[in-house]
Amino acid sequence: MSENNYPLLLQQAEALLSSETDQIANAANLSALIYHNVSRLNWAGFYFFRDNELVLGPFAGELACTRIGVGEGVCGTAYANQETLIVDDVHAFDGHIACDAASASEIVIPFTTSKLSGVLDIDSPEKARFGEAERALFQRLSEIYTMV
Ligand code: SME
Repeated sequence: MSENNYPLLLQQAEALLSSETDQIANAANLSALIYHNVSRLNWAGFYFFRDNELVLGPFAGELACTRIGVGEGVCGTAYANQETLIVDDVHAFDGHIACDAASASEIVIPFTTSKLSGVLDIDSPEKARFGEAERALFQRLSEIYTMV
């Protein structure tokens, strides 16, 4: 899906997530929705904060690392800082955890709900895939996820 269609994707996400309140089910469907509708991705999914570390949740893409320490890698850094993190070249990011060698750039959005917290992580095989349009898109998707 091109940038022009991001508003449509947001509408689809709202419709999909508003009919279900289970946060695991919604994380699973949101991962698939992102992976199959945003172009040039190789991974989209969730890590949840459990027992002091980030543990793999629902995702679409290749197999992934199951546990990431807070402050480690791109996901752990974004979670520790509670700020969206865009990395244009993951191989140049100190401490990057290479789960899938195909990943070249990454965006990570931390979120918190009344029941859980974690990160939404999106990877691309293309360097600098994520710009301001994607920051806005994925932050809004993460908000929709936390609202239901
Ligand atoms: N590269 C991530 C790890 C998670 S995967 O890419 C699915 C990181 O450095 O946090």
